[in-house]
Amino acid sequence: MTDLVRFSVSLEETLLSKFDKEIKKDNYPTRSKAIKDLIRESLIKKEWVKGKNVVGTITLVYDHHKRELTSKTMDIQHDYHNVIVSSQHVHLDHDNCLEVVIVKGHTREIVDLARKLKTTKGIKYSTLNMASTGKNI
Ligand code: NI
Repeated sequence: MTDLVRFSVSLEETLLSKFDKEIKKDNYPTRSKAIKDLIRESLIKKEWVKGKNVVGTITLVYDHHKRELTSKTMDIQHDYHNVIVSSQHVHLDHDNCLEVVIVKGHTREIVDLARKLKTTKGIKYSTLNMASTGKNI
């Protein structure tokens, strides 16, 4: 762990008050932790814009009874096998499945994959979580 430094920030009182209210709602233990998270989120967004080597997860929820849908999502994933590290399938109930796909690679390919899965007819929920390699944050 690197050394901690203290710095001061000047901002409008109303803005700070809004920020403090939000972080209290989110149960942040300290303002410092909330600011660290904001800075890290900003760095992660920049990692994704550069797009060289990013990691993340794509979460899907769908009804497996729609047979063509299961096969379609599988076809799409095979087209992007080079950016898929692994996937996990959970049977949520009699009808619904949750799938989490771990992705690693170029932003453009991962965003394309996530968009194709999300826009597949019958997918109930789909989201791309942009994570970090952890190296630059
Ligand atoms: Ni299932």
